[in-house]
Amino acid sequence: MAAFDFTPWRARVDAALAAALPDPAVAPQRLHAAMRHGVLNGGKRMRPLLVYATGCALGADASELDAAAVAVELVHCYSLVHDDLPAMDDDALRRGQPTVHIAFGEASAILAGDALQTLAFEALAAAPQAPERRIAMLAELARAAGVAGMCGGQALDIDATGTAKGGQRHFSAETHRQPMYSNQESDADPLSLLERLHALKTGALLRCAVRLGAIAGGADPAQSRQLDRYADALGLAFQIKDDLLDIEGDAATLGKSPGKDAAQAKATFPALLGIEESRVRLQHLFTQMTAALTDSGVHSEALAQLARKVIERSN
Ligand code: IPE
Ligand code: IPE
Ligand code: MG
Ligand code: MG
Ligand code: MG
Repeated sequence: MAAFDFTPWRARVDAALAAALPDPAVAPQRLHAAMRHGVLNGGKRMRPLLVYATGCALGADASELDAAAVAVELVHCYSLVHDDLPAMDDDALRRGQPTVHIAFGEASAILAGDALQTLAFEALAAAPQAPERRIAMLAELARAAGVAGMCGGQALDIDATGTAKGGQRHFSAETHRQPMYSNQESDADPLSLLERLHALKTGALLRCAVRLGAIAGGADPAQSRQLDRYADALGLAFQIKDDLLDIEGDAATLGKSPGKDAAQAKATFPALLGIEESRVRLQHLFTQMTAALTDSGVHSEALAQLARKVIERSN
């Protein structure tokens, strides 16, 4: 299978991001520079690629998808800036460079994250879609970023490691029996809880990327349902692979410090099931992605190759 060339979409979103970000020569320079550092530092742009791949497969033009691609990447970058803060994962390296709080200080990193998030909604509000679709896209992004999505998942992640209180850092079945999610969920088994944590902290934004492309491209309800299936499997696979890379990767390739999950006793698939079983699950999720794509009737070499990228990537 010939490799799909993602370079043009990457170039599009990189140019659109650079144009959307504030001028580092204008005050407040430090905040503007921190925002640019958090975004223009060589991410894989997986979420924008999902927007373009989905939207274009449904007949939209790439130029109609730039705003959505920018918006979802800005929210993602904001989530990384805050995820790296000392109060959260306390990481010094991101995309091969010092994290935003290391380079610009904590206050600027907090503000940069806040401002990146609002910039995302400003960009999406100016998308070229008709008002009804544009509002649907705004609602999708808001939901995916908030308590029912990324923020909620990050809260579960922090609860599961105990870092929020600076107290004990442990993740075990015992931890999961404590009613930290909701009364309803506290009885669920550790694996279901971990799947939910991953689905929220990472899956929600990846699914949102596919949904933004689907809305812009005018997917019908049956296609949307199958694309959701594809995206849900992809989101879980993405975080399982991230967790495996934290164990198996090296800093030069990853662009972030490996071994942090074990050191902080993070709630991860390898920690709960072991490396081998995690790999088996990745393969299973790949099969699910492929099946969902076939069932959707949306023919997209790009979406098929992104599924493979997620499980085979080395960073
Ligand atoms: C890292 O995301 C954080 C997770 C949600 C696992 P990516 O692996 O997409 O990071 P970048 O954007 O390529 O740096
Ligand atoms: C982060 O998960 C998910 C986010 C919402 C940012 P991780 O904490 O595992 O991401 P990395 O490994 O720092 O990129
Ligand atoms: Mg984290
Ligand atoms: Mg982290
Ligand atoms: Mg990680």
